[in-house]
Amino acid sequence: MGRVLAVVSQKGGVGKTTTSVNLAAAFARRGLKTLIVDVDPQGAVRYGVGLRRGHPTFGFADYLSGSRSLKEIILPTALPWMRVILAGSVTDSADHSGFLSLISDTAILGDLLKTARERCDIVVVDTPPGLGPIVQHVLLSSQHAIVPLQCEPLALQTTPQILRGIQEIVSANAELTLDGILLTMFDPANEASQRIAQYVRSHLPLNMVFDVVIPRTNAALDAFAAGQPVVLRSPSDPASQAYVNLATLLAERFEP
Ligand SMILES: Nc1ncnc2c1ncn2[C@@H]1O[C@H](COP(=O)(O)OP(=O)(O)OP(=O)(O)O)[C@@H](O)[C@H]1O
Ligand SMILES: [Mg+2]
Repeated sequence: MGRVLAVVSQKGGVGKTTTSVNLAAAFARRGLKTLIVDVDPQGAVRYGVGLRRGHPTFGFADYLSGSRSLKEIILPTALPWMRVILAGSVTDSADHSGFLSLISDTAILGDLLKTARERCDIVVVDTPPGLGPIVQHVLLSSQHAIVPLQCEPLALQTTPQILRGIQEIVSANAELTLDGILLTMFDPANEASQRIAQYVRSHLPLNMVFDVVIPRTNAALDAFAAGQPVVLRSPSDPASQAYVNLATLLAERFEP
């Protein structure tokens, strides 16, 4: 039985999708059978894994609505061990109410993640920002969660809120472990960035913040724009190395 790893955060734009895509690619590179599932109606995973043009756009939403089978929505990627379920047609409309009610009122999402777990070593789930119903349902079916936290001044104000959110996360599911908070977009040359990282470490419980920190790099930004995980596009970039180190650490933790 594999594991479901949810990437969640209250705040938007903190690097959830970048983390999901790069961790999934790094797991797959280790030979772990990996599936990345996009449950965020924004559908950004599609860009992160390079399934932009000429590829099917259906995915999770189309399975939820019953218009596509599970087999149809599991798409191959450039990596033999990495498959992807895109967000699907929900990204085409501004009205997500049907999508939301199918997640809230049916067991389809939980059942999908359970089936995925039976067939894969790791299922990485990229989620929308916030701790709304989609994220709550994902967490009810996950064994692991990672919370990216961007090294920016607002992190100081939102840290207590993040702590509350984490308590909520862990109490939702006895099977769920919060693996840690991941500092993202860290700029070692910037004194404020360093101060924020230090503040976060000193104000959150010991061991809650990963030692691995993801630096802000141009290669990470460019890779996303070019539709490829940075770990594949620029393996020697410091952000790639940090993601590979994080994947190694997690894969060792996940070993039975
Ligand atoms: N390590 C990094 N270095 C440079 N840019 C980064 C890095 N990580 C993420 N970014 C950029 O920051 C922006 C936000 O990242 P991303 O889309 O992964 O965040 P998100 O949390 O998924 O956002 P949302 O809440 O909207 O889903 C993107 O433009 C991404 O390319
Ligand atoms: Mg995202």
